[in-house]
Amino acid sequence: MHDAKPGEDELRNDVAAEDEAVLEDIAAGIADFDTGRGRLIPILQMIQETHTYVPGPAMKLVADHLGLATCEVYGVATFYNQFRFNPPGKHQIKVCLGTACHVKGGDIILENFERKLGIRAGETTSDREFSIDRVACVGCCALAPVALVDETVHGHVAPSKVEGLILGFQIEKERAEREKNVGPQDPASL
Ligand code: FES
Repeated sequence: MHDAKPGEDELRNDVAAEDEAVLEDIAAGIADFDTGRGRLIPILQMIQETHTYVPGPAMKLVADHLGLATCEVYGVATFYNQFRFNPPGKHQIKVCLGTACHVKGGDIILENFERKLGIRAGETTSDREFSIDRVACVGCCALAPVALVDETVHGHVAPSKVEGLILGFQIEKERAEREKNVGPQDPASL
């Protein structure tokens, strides 16, 4: 049986509580809208603008409010590129797949991030530390292939650099957790 690492249960509880709070907020927001199919896109836009993504369970809330089938809401939401269905990670990785970056191997860089983090583009890691998205030209074609990590532009990204970027964040996180667990130092020990 898999033993949870220290802090894993706490993390799962935090994530569940956060999800619940988001859904309650969405339910309250939906109630302000009239019913009828014509309100579907405006409601989805409201959810996305407020929470930066449309959670899966929110589709049912929308469907119930508008008197539609949940699959109809899914169908419309997934048809439009403007909607994302996963919460953004604490660290957002955006890999450019514009023409120049594509020619210089942007898709290989994307694959490396996906493999390293075990998620696909458009998804978020279960601890919500990282999300990956593919983006169109970000205007730095001379630096192709380009990836944005938390709004910092990384140019001429090589597959080996992907490993280093993720490792840097992981080391930083472990250090912060260690400091949190040590707590305030006893003045007598100083
Ligand atoms: S195509 Fe990637 S920055 Fe222009």
